[in-house]
Amino acid sequence: MNERRVGIVMNGVTGRMGLRQHLERSIVAIREQGGIAAADGSMIIPEPILVGRNELKLRRIAEQYGLTRWTTDLSEALAEPDVEIYFDSQLTQLREKGVRAAVEAGKAIYCEKPIAEGLDAAVDLARLVRDSGLKNGVVQDKLSLPGLRKLKRLVDGGFFGRILSVRGEFGYWVFEGDWQEAQRPAWNYKQAEGGGIVVDMFCHWRYVLDQIFAPVRSVYCQGAVHIPTRWDEQGTEYAATAEDAAYGVFELEGGIIAQLNSSWTTRVFRDELVEFQVDGTEGSAVAGLRNCHAQHRSATPKPVWNPDLPVTEKFRDQWSVVPDNEVFDNGFKVQWEMFLRHVVDDAPFTWDFVEGAKGVQLAELGLQSWREGRKLEVPALSIEAGS
Ligand SMILES: NC(=O)c1ccc[n+]([C@@H]2O[C@H](COP(=O)([O-])OP(=O)(O)OC[C@H]3O[C@@H](n4cnc5c(N)ncnc54)[C@H](O)[C@@H]3O)[C@@H](O)[C@H]2O)c1
Repeated sequence: MNERRVGIVMNGVTGRMGLRQHLERSIVAIREQGGIAAADGSMIIPEPILVGRNELKLRRIAEQYGLTRWTTDLSEALAEPDVEIYFDSQLTQLREKGVRAAVEAGKAIYCEKPIAEGLDAAVDLARLVRDSGLKNGVVQDKLSLPGLRKLKRLVDGGFFGRILSVRGEFGYWVFEGDWQEAQRPAWNYKQAEGGGIVVDMFCHWRYVLDQIFAPVRSVYCQGAVHIPTRWDEQGTEYAATAEDAAYGVFELEGGIIAQLNSSWTTRVFRDELVEFQVDGTEGSAVAGLRNCHAQHRSATPKPVWNPDLPVTEKFRDQWSVVPDNEVFDNGFKVQWEMFLRHVVDDAPFTWDFVEGAKGVQLAELGLQSWREGRKLEVPALSIEAGS
């Protein structure tokens, strides 16, 4: 069978997301399954070139996954003749520089969210890639989570009737780093290094709300630096300057109210690390990363408020399991496969830099709302100069 090899510069593969989700569970997994079929019947095989700052780490990673190409020099990698795609999962702050270098080299660009730290930079990048005619995409992995896929199926099937509200809980306890190692990098808790849960999570909430329910029209956000002192990877104490929790209220088109809590300072008493409850006139559903339960109007019990009596019903048992009905692959891998087909076959890929910029817009408005203590409209985003 013919092979269609696609060189991909992967910048940031020594990081958490770059290594596990993008290299191991996406690119290496696609190579191990023999590639993906292109429209002409050939197999698209990704050929990664690892880029980073530390040669030793890169060499170790390459050896571990049976790869042979790595470098600490981005321009050298971009100049390789077989390279068609630049991928960036570096620290958010470094993304813009990497993307600009790839635009200069004329490569298709795929990257982690957020595409930039601020809206102006995000809009500039979206305009730059569009004007350069380069294919571009941003990771929007939550849409491929089995739980959210099933939730979307319920929305598309009209299960909810009129959707009234969405309530989301995301989070878990991230250790401070003193007596137990922190499970997230220290830059997440430093404003000067692009940290903060608003920039991190509101990018996700934008596409989840826009694409599963309805476009976001306003935001009110209250952030907090609940834990002011943390310890970094070297065990050094530092002042946390970026918020570790954000409590957001969003109005969506059609009057849907969404409340989403994002927190690295909460302990989990849920079934999954993220859960959304959707209430509609005809039914309700609760979706997590993998699972989804639903309760139809016709099967809704009638609890009566009486705090003097012990609970008489098992509320969780009154919900039905929404079946998988399909096999779900890793969400990052699914999107990589779509982006590879977009580059090779011009197949549609909707999550472009304009969609990425919308996420940054919501994060920026969320931070402004918190600073000013008021609800803000979310205007339609234009990437035209001077708008
Ligand atoms: N899609 C998602 O669900 C998701 C989840 C977490 C993070 N992210 C995004 O992925 C990106 C990387 O996050 P991560 O959690 O993998 O971070 P990380 O700290 O684990 O990795 C950062 C990467 O950037 C590189 N880097 C280059 N210069 C650096 C410098 N001066 N200081 C520190 N690192 C430097 C590191 O070597 C590493 O490869 C961020 O933009 C983040 O917003 C996305």
